[in-house]
Amino acid sequence: MSTVAPQPGASAISEDPLLAWRKEFPILDHTTYMISHSLGPMPRRVQTALQEFANTWATRGIRAWEEGWWMMPVTCGDLIGSIIGAPKGRVVMHQNVSICQSIVTSCFDWNGPRNKLVTDGLNFPSNDYIYHGLGRQGAEIVSVGSHDGMTVRLESILDAIDERTQLVSISHVAFRSSYLQDLAAITARAHEVGAYIVADLYQSAGIVPIDVIALDLDFATGGSVKWLLGGPGAGYLYVREDLDPKLRPVATGWAAHAEPFEFVGGPIEYAPDIRRFLNGTPNVPAMYSARSGYEIVNEIGVPTIRAKSKRQTDRLIALADEAGLAVRSPRDSEARGGTVILDVPNGREVTAELGRRQILVDFRPGAGIRIAPHFYTSDDEIAHTIHELRSIVGP
Ligand SMILES: Cc1ncc(COP(=O)(O)O)c(C=O)c1O
Repeated sequence: MSTVAPQPGASAISEDPLLAWRKEFPILDHTTYMISHSLGPMPRRVQTALQEFANTWATRGIRAWEEGWWMMPVTCGDLIGSIIGAPKGRVVMHQNVSICQSIVTSCFDWNGPRNKLVTDGLNFPSNDYIYHGLGRQGAEIVSVGSHDGMTVRLESILDAIDERTQLVSISHVAFRSSYLQDLAAITARAHEVGAYIVADLYQSAGIVPIDVIALDLDFATGGSVKWLLGGPGAGYLYVREDLDPKLRPVATGWAAHAEPFEFVGGPIEYAPDIRRFLNGTPNVPAMYSARSGYEIVNEIGVPTIRAKSKRQTDRLIALADEAGLAVRSPRDSEARGGTVILDVPNGREVTAELGRRQILVDFRPGAGIRIAPHFYTSDDEIAHTIHELRSIVGP
């Protein structure tokens, strides 16, 4: 079995300066880490951050709330905001995307004449489950299917959006195929007919440049454990500022109240700002464990990350073609996120064998083996992954 040098020399770093970041990720010393579409590697500095959480609790006790913890869903959200182009104070943290999507859909009345929710057939299952549940409240769910299991025709989505549409939901980059959707065109169509749009950015934020303002999105959701290199339990929700006065999420809690520490019962009086999309006690340790990744992504800059990702995913596809492996993600890097999917026989077993060879990738039924370089990946690791895959699959 061939191996690759875990830490690059000075000449490799001068050719690819992003490789200097490798020392920040302990797991790269012994593992070829091609799985940041699922769980990114832990930045070394997370240990210090979690120690800081423990020290704060130990030494400040309950005062920690007013000294920063209570506002962390917003201050931490600002770090995400700078990655997705949101202004300060427009992103709040929640436990996960599933909760954020439930909050968004709870802002609408699904019983009236505008009761249609249009979603793409490649959306993440959680989102589908939430939408189909809205059927009980009167919603009509229109899921625009994929004709090839990999992409969804833009025209089909645009055609499905009409004057009865309340909300359009799009997975910016599909988790199954890495297909990158045309959010600008879909948003324009949604707004043309008076519908709202929510984009799930989980598979794009941190690897594909995004500007929620330029795109004119109404809502965006995402999480931290993938390209943003954060710990679990730190999902995020962006809401366009001018929508605050119009939206009254039914999925709510005391942190969304204008004066939560007055503890007033009865119907809620929503906070006038982004806090109206909060619910209960925030997941403080999760935010401590997630911030380091956002800082690193902000420091490098997503356009720099994207340029390398396009080059390396193109290279992966070229090597897969040479090896005769079937590619199940778009070939045009403009229409692809950061992952390449290869369909090989017995993909689950092959994935397990790659794991035994210290190459981490994953397998999704109906799709194939998902392989994702990130900014810390060396070109040698790209070649190594395909070499090992080829040796397992055979000629
Ligand atoms: C595109 C996308 N959306 C949502 C999710 C699930 O998010 P959560 O577990 O935060 O609800 C995933 C995760 O795997 C995903 O890839």
